[in-house]
Amino acid sequence: MSTALSNAPGCEATFDFVSTRIVKHCCIAKDTWQLTVESPELARKTVPGQFFMIRIAGRTDPLIGRALAMYDRHLDQNGQPEAVSVVYTVKGKFTQALSKCVTGDQVELWGPLGNGFSTKPTDHLILVAGGVGQTPMLTLASAALGKSKYGTPSQPNGYAKKVTLCYGARTKEYLAGVPDFEKACTEVRIATDDGSQGHHGRVTDLLRSLLDTEKSDRNISSGLPVRIACCGPEPMMEAVSKIALEYSVPCELSLETPMACGIGICFTCVAKIKQADGEWDYQRTCIEGPVFDSEQIVW
Ligand SMILES: Cc1cc2nc3c(=O)[nH]c(=O)nc-3n(C[C@H](O)[C@H](O)[C@H](O)COP(=O)(O)OP(=O)(O)OC[C@H]3O[C@@H](n4cnc5c(N)ncnc54)[C@H](O)[C@@H]3O)c2cc1C
Ligand code: FES
Repeated sequence: MSTALSNAPGCEATFDFVSTRIVKHCCIAKDTWQLTVESPELARKTVPGQFFMIRIAGRTDPLIGRALAMYDRHLDQNGQPEAVSVVYTVKGKFTQALSKCVTGDQVELWGPLGNGFSTKPTDHLILVAGGVGQTPMLTLASAALGKSKYGTPSQPNGYAKKVTLCYGARTKEYLAGVPDFEKACTEVRIATDDGSQGHHGRVTDLLRSLLDTEKSDRNISSGLPVRIACCGPEPMMEAVSKIALEYSVPCELSLETPMACGIGICFTCVAKIKQADGEWDYQRTCIEGPVFDSEQIVW
């Protein structure tokens, strides 16, 4: 069912190549699907914020795999890691084809890839997600509150006292996995562009309001014991990074730069990243990212 391929020649990533079957595939919101595949190796090794490259077995169109973040990890009856889920929104060629796959169909995945989110202790971890950018946030919330352990060896967990998800979508029909997040997080706040659920407006309004409350509750103007982790459309991430700077709060962003190989060879995924000397250089989102400190990113 699966084969391990590590340290492929000429590539800096260490990953497993897994050919496996779909065990569950269901529509969880408008144009949005959760796909679960059996893979004890990926379930054991993957940490929050890492991703897989995925292809449909036997198909050459599209030829290139697509990157999808781990959404959830599933355990067997003995508590051993057994399967992983991804969540995707139907956009173009690959996601349209994937949405037509059914339980039992074969897919190929390679991963886990990328660096994942940091595990620095904080009082309050604020997750900011726009659209399908909520995918890496479920396992992150679970790890941060000490509800689950991820990785081999296990990453530190239980490093946040409180986790709030600020989740923005176009309309309520696009909100995916809210009951999962309500279980994993301390609190979930929702914003929709049309006001059909939650706050009528942008997810950044929710973030500002939370940071203002933190400031007044603690009666301090800077150095809040708060961190932000964010994923979503680029303009939203840029806006979040400006707010983080304004409130002097550390912020990590997970970039979704289009990728071809996912393993460091092709350089299609580069982003402009500030260096220690103040200059910028291109870095590969698949190797050095996808998670970067927001202050490092040149927009
Ligand atoms: C690290 C990483 C993690 C990702 N995780 C997820 C995830 O969990 N769920 C998910 O749905 N997608 C995720 N993506 C995006 C995903 O890899 C695909 O790019 C996306 O699903 C579109 O693929 P497609 O073949 O359907 O569309 P394509 O045929 O490739 O393109 C269709 C349209 O979508 C646009 N598009 C392509 N790629 C992107 C992108 N990355 N962001 C915005 N617009 C794009 C194109 O410009 C085009 O207009 C992730 C990307 C990265 C790099
Ligand atoms: S996707 Fe090929 S180097 Fe990053």
